[in-house]
Amino acid sequence: MPIQSDAFASLRIFDHPLIQHKLSIVRDRATGPADFRRLLNEIAGLMTYEVSRRFDTRPVRVTTPLEETECRQLDRPVTLVPILRAGLSMTDGVLQLFPEARVGHIGIRRDESTHRPVFYYAKLPHDVRDGYAIVIDPMLATGGSACAAIRYLRDAGCRDIQMICLVAAPEGVQRVHDEHPDVMIHCAALDRELDGNAYIRPGLGDAGDRVFGTLEG
Ligand code: PRP
Ligand code: URA
Repeated sequence: MPIQSDAFASLRIFDHPLIQHKLSIVRDRATGPADFRRLLNEIAGLMTYEVSRRFDTRPVRVTTPLEETECRQLDRPVTLVPILRAGLSMTDGVLQLFPEARVGHIGIRRDESTHRPVFYYAKLPHDVRDGYAIVIDPMLATGGSACAAIRYLRDAGCRDIQMICLVAAPEGVQRVHDEHPDVMIHCAALDRELDGNAYIRPGLGDAGDRVFGTLEG
């Protein structure tokens, strides 16, 4: 079970030893893209079990080889919404547990000088409003990208939205909470602060560049 954050009502932190162990390797600057991607997907998979706990189920009749019985199935479709690019790095891990989930994409990049989100792409299932949406992005820094993605989902009619991230800054959690208090955020760590470049400290650097091997220098 994740722990409820003392500081933020809408934040749950996964303090599970296995997740914390994997996060320590992810943070290490010596970890390359292959291990970085693998570990992010593994952590996302471990989180999914709890993130899906409050999904509604409905009764269904199933015929086993011996008799008919009542079982339960998820009541509404699930749409994973990775924020490009880095959100892709956790999506396969969730799909391992939820192969039936649909995947919508939202493309947002942070302007390097203003740190404000720049929206460049979106493609969602036509009936996304009918089910659960899970926004996926390993980094919640200023919260600008997450809020822009959540706003887009709201405009598409989504009412049940959660977010999975890896590392969150207090500033970003506060912003998402202020703008979307009903959106539960699940993370592996609440870090100390943002630095002057709006990077999370201690953080793990630029997640997208580490995932895709596009680091400069
Ligand atoms: C990173 C990260 C988030 C965003 C977080 O993406 O993956 O989307 O920054 O910052 P914020 O909370 O201040 O908005 P980036 O803009 O670097 O794009 P990328 O994933 O394509 O590298
Ligand atoms: N985006 C990242 O990839 N890392 C940060 O620390 C902040 C924003």
